[in-house]
Amino acid sequence: MRNTQQSTQFTYVHLDAALAVLMRWIEENRKESDLLNNIKEAHIRRVAGFVCEMGVAEEDAPLAELIAWLHDLAFYVSDDEENHVHNALEIVFDQGLIYDLIPAILPKNEIYKIIRKAIKHHGDLLVDRADMTEREWLHVCIVRDADKLDNLVHVKPGTSIEDLLRHKKGTDGKSLTEADLIHGVVSDEVYSTFMSGSTINYAIVKTACDWWVAWSAYAFDLLLPESKRLVRESRAIRSFMSRGEFSDPKTSTRFAAMIARMDGFLEEQD
Ligand SMILES: [Fe+2]
Repeated sequence: MRNTQQSTQFTYVHLDAALAVLMRWIEENRKESDLLNNIKEAHIRRVAGFVCEMGVAEEDAPLAELIAWLHDLAFYVSDDEENHVHNALEIVFDQGLIYDLIPAILPKNEIYKIIRKAIKHHGDLLVDRADMTEREWLHVCIVRDADKLDNLVHVKPGTSIEDLLRHKKGTDGKSLTEADLIHGVVSDEVYSTFMSGSTINYAIVKTACDWWVAWSAYAFDLLLPESKRLVRESRAIRSFMSRGEFSDPKTSTRFAAMIARMDGFLEEQD
């Protein structure tokens, strides 16, 4: 009985011990996977790195870092992107990895619930926080932001214009190219959505410039002031949005206005 009471009162994670167990699990279970080898393993490390830079309070930092390591864990065993959240929950909770990471933890424990909700909601477009405690919401915000920070600060700026547009199609059905970006226009609806400080529904994206705007607008979804600070200090979005030398003066003017709008958002204190 005493053990049960103690184990429901965990508030802290012993990160070094948990990571040692996790690394062993990865070594024993990882399968050959193109997605993992090319993208996800480095992404997971960077997300954990961002969490360490986000100024998370001491009592929550080890837990936040552990969640970062776990959020995309499923890619170590499968390339199935669509089901990676479900698969991660299955590995960590249904298969019981959580009991090796944090010995004596129980499902009713606060930490157990936080890890479960953070993994479950890390990629949701919209998250309903109504049934979450403050601490659960904090960890959902941390992992979501760190996941986005990697995209905004590393992945998009580090990929060539050609590679970013290659899989996107124009209205003529052909793959978009660098020339489509340089000589293109921003659709009115995409422009006005960006200027209102909102993320952009891909259903309204038509041109190469629209994609550029939509990827940049991803930052409007950052939830924590520390995440905005990291993006602001990196100057990643500013340089991403300045990558094209646009031939159309209206496109140039619109991009300048959007860069200023984004700077304003990143400066805002919540
Ligand atoms: Fe991720």
